[in-house]
Amino acid sequence: MKVGVLKGNGIGPEITAATIRTLNSTGLSFEWIDVPIADEAIAQYGHPLPPQVVNTIRELKVVIKAPLIVNKGRGRLTCAQPDGSEVTYPSLNNAIRRELGLFVNPRPLRGIPGISGKYADMDVVVMREITEDVYIGWEFRIGKTSAQAIKLTTREAAIRVARYSFEYARKNNRRKVSCLHKANVLNYTDGLFLNCCKEMAQEYPDIQFDDFMIDAACYTIIKQPERFDIIVTANQYGDIFSDLGAGLVGSLGLAPGANIGENVAVFEASHGAAPDIAGQGIANPGALILSGALMLEHIGRTRESRAVIEATRLVMGEGRVLTPDLGGNATTMNVADEIARQIEIILQSSY
Ligand code: NAI
Repeated sequence: MKVGVLKGNGIGPEITAATIRTLNSTGLSFEWIDVPIADEAIAQYGHPLPPQVVNTIRELKVVIKAPLIVNKGRGRLTCAQPDGSEVTYPSLNNAIRRELGLFVNPRPLRGIPGISGKYADMDVVVMREITEDVYIGWEFRIGKTSAQAIKLTTREAAIRVARYSFEYARKNNRRKVSCLHKANVLNYTDGLFLNCCKEMAQEYPDIQFDDFMIDAACYTIIKQPERFDIIVTANQYGDIFSDLGAGLVGSLGLAPGANIGENVAVFEASHGAAPDIAGQGIANPGALILSGALMLEHIGRTRESRAVIEATRLVMGEGRVLTPDLGGNATTMNVADEIARQIEIILQSSY
């Protein structure tokens, strides 16, 4: 099984090594293909995301991606298109998603007994639309003292992410889809997004549907997390809301994610490159390891996927081998080794 690896920067290389270590312990034979990105791609091709790299990822179809540092206010990136035109993206991470046509970023937020306190039972999946909204990159300076950004919402993208959310709910026996928006202020953009979700809800009478204003949703998930199940929302709200949820679960280091397109999928943690702890070997690898479990499920390896999830939750919940974000003093690799050991035990006992 060929799987691409974008090992990123900051804590990226450390958590990537830990993830590969644990996924190898499933006994599946992976061929990990290093794909150059950012500085490595600049050294090789003169661009952080050249067409050669985009094509390699498309051919590989399945990629594990670690986080990439994007400099504040200087992240914009222009990519050449096959027809000779150019598209400018607001950041390298955004460019990867959009160059590959990835349209939904599912981010499961699941509490762990022993770690998550009153959020131990939380079990929510945020379905974040990732092609539009204010992250489209249409920002302009107006003279020296003003700037504006355009928020784009199209029916096509809203219907696509809503359909994906209801389909996911049905396939995974989930009870409800909630749309988060601010349609009381953004009448046309969020109004359209909400109406598309309502329209899609009509096609899935077996799944409940409701909607929340994004600000009220932030309050409600803290007070009554059980009111949420599957959440469908626009790009920026989903980005922010999923970090809030990760905080409730206990750490960004427990928040996995995937970026799904028609024929290609990129699996990455919800968190960033954590430059404040990079190079110290203390980052929590849990989020990227759980993203690896999403990758295993995606390629049809459900048994191994479940073993990775169970082992990760067991090690975290047990509390013996934890990184400092969860109050422990273990290293990234200590955690990976312990999860790998548990994966082997689980898989052996499930024969
Ligand atoms: P961040 O998510 O990297 O870090 C926020 C806080 O969470 C920090 O205190 C960090 O130490 C902690 N944290 C994050 N992941 C952790 C882990 N696995 N284990 C333990 N602690 C962890 O967000 P920040 O600091 O705003 O961004 C840092 C850089 O990452 C920026 O350049 C940003 O643009 C980039 N970024 C990249 C993303 C991606 O590649 N998909 C997503 C988000 C941010």
